[in-house]
Amino acid sequence: MKKNISIAIDGPAAAGKSTVAKEVAKRLGFIYIDTGAMYRAFTWAVLEAGLDPKNEEESCSLVGKVNIELQPNGMVICNGTDVTKEIREFRISSNVSYIASYKKIRLELVEQQRKIAKTGNCLMDGRDIGTYVLPNADVKIFQVASLDERTDRRYKENLEKGIECTREEVYSDLKKRDYIDSNRAFAPLKPAEDSIVLDTTSMFFEDVVETITDIIKSKMSL
Ligand code: CDP
Repeated sequence: MKKNISIAIDGPAAAGKSTVAKEVAKRLGFIYIDTGAMYRAFTWAVLEAGLDPKNEEESCSLVGKVNIELQPNGMVICNGTDVTKEIREFRISSNVSYIASYKKIRLELVEQQRKIAKTGNCLMDGRDIGTYVLPNADVKIFQVASLDERTDRRYKENLEKGIECTREEVYSDLKKRDYIDSNRAFAPLKPAEDSIVLDTTSMFFEDVVETITDIIKSKMSL
């Protein structure tokens, strides 16, 4: 039986992974899995239940009770509610890294991610895909960009989506999340030893998409 191809794209917050990964997956006809959306949806569920995301015990009490569906059209459904837009709001972004640092929650979401990866050729983006979720991924990309460039990208994206924020808020949120994501004890953000590091600071979106698509095609002889 032919083995499914799996591609891991990791990197710090707002490096442009999701937009790029979605487009690359579309071009290759692969399933796209946005693991960040899963942590965001879990954070939504914690807040919805009136629990404190900074409290590990309270947050972990929802393990086994949060049903997250990532639909092929990009919609994210959490416990039957369409949370696609809400999970991009600032109240979620500013709390998600606490939720993502709890091992019990990660173990549950990673299990679901590995299950989806088994269903076909996939491209998964996140923080720990190449190091922990899919350590045998066929291609691993670690996508970076300077904090200033990432702030500009996310600020512009938020304005386009009608999400209220200031540039300063975005800057400090990304800085805080990078710190928590890189320093947590379990499956922290770091490049896998066998990953290709791609600095996209001065690259246009289209060039990033083409570079990554070419890397995958040449490595996989597609
Ligand atoms: O799009 P953005 O770069 O802002 O972040 P995201 O991919 O939506 O991920 C949101 C948060 O989820 C990250 O800051 C991490 O705390 C967490 N996350 C994680 O810990 N592991 C993953 N595989 C994906 C996301």
